[in-house]
Amino acid sequence: MPVETFRAVLLEQSAEGQVEASFRDLPVADLPEGEVLVQVAYSSLNYKDGLAITGKAPIARRYPMVAGIDLAGTVIESSVPEFRPGDRVIGTGNELGERHWGGYAGLARVRAGWLVPCPPEFTLQQAMGIGTAGFTAMQAVLALEAHEITPASGEIVVTGAGGGVGSLAVAILAQLGYTVAAVTGRPQLAERLRWLGAASILERAELAEPRRPLDKARWAGAVDSVGGGPLAAILSQTQPGGSVAACGLAASPELHTTVYPFILRGVNLLGIYSVILPPEERARIWGRLVTDLPLAKLETLMAVAPLSAIFDLAARIVAGQIAGRVVIDVSA
Ligand SMILES: NC(=O)c1ccc[n+]([C@@H]2O[C@H](COP(=O)([O-])OP(=O)(O)OC[C@H]3O[C@@H](n4cnc5c(N)ncnc54)[C@H](OP(=O)(O)O)[C@@H]3O)[C@@H](O)[C@H]2O)c1
Repeated sequence: MPVETFRAVLLEQSAEGQVEASFRDLPVADLPEGEVLVQVAYSSLNYKDGLAITGKAPIARRYPMVAGIDLAGTVIESSVPEFRPGDRVIGTGNELGERHWGGYAGLARVRAGWLVPCPPEFTLQQAMGIGTAGFTAMQAVLALEAHEITPASGEIVVTGAGGGVGSLAVAILAQLGYTVAAVTGRPQLAERLRWLGAASILERAELAEPRRPLDKARWAGAVDSVGGGPLAAILSQTQPGGSVAACGLAASPELHTTVYPFILRGVNLLGIYSVILPPEERARIWGRLVTDLPLAKLETLMAVAPLSAIFDLAARIVAGQIAGRVVIDVSA
């Protein structure tokens, strides 16, 4: 018998503008248009998912919206030759869970251009262990490479190192031979961060705010997922010609700095945006994840949770209480 409904986490907006999230059984006929129908096996938990589900920031741009910015699953139907039933696919970003129904659902119908084939080296579960967080970490490392930051350039600092982007950035940078300083507010994660490849651990408080506009130049580069005071502090401590890849706002969306790092040291501030990218660039980034992210390290920082736990997990990631990555088992 054909499936008529699918379970999803639906975001709706009340008349007062409040966002409310709930589990719903939605008719398959309600799925939006798209060339590829995917049976979703796994999604993942990202900071942005936490904001969307708790309603702490207006992530969804239209309602009702199926939440979940990531998905991995198997193609059921396709009207384009690039994908065939049975293919394993990944969808991250592309405004899934924002403008287009996302991955916290048993089924997703999406545009073919939003999907990439799942590399054969990864299971669907591992692909979501990576998800948007790992994809963004890889993108940030590629941005440093493109600005000629090599392992010989010096130390790379990673903020929010206990989180998803941060811990995957530590693992990737260490695998590539960089010397990594991991910044965390959770000293209990130090051992794990060392195992991922961090050469040193810094307390979050040490880099909370800049001490002066130009401080002692320590960092050749940075992957920053927290913004705010820590990003300003890193800019003030970056070596001449160094590059800082900024991708997040877990501490604050604000940035109070001076132009001195830019005009007296030639420091580059590199913006990282993982949502809209050409499919070829997405495939290139996934290809680098295959070679540069050790699977043994990925596995140790991944936990799997059922979709039924999503409300609790969303609150915890926004509170900075999630370590590493949580894969969401949509079928459980
Ligand atoms: N630009 C993009 O395309 C893109 C893509 C993915 C993610 N992001 C952004 O990147 C950030 C990280 O995402 P994620 O999924 O990795 O989230 P996450 O797992 O929650 O990681 C964030 C980490 O930041 C640290 N942190 C939390 N609150 C902090 C505070 N007040 N001050 C300093 N550090 C704090 C915590 O690490 P410690 O406990 O170890 O300090 C936390 O684990 C988010 O802002 C997200 O929106 C952007």
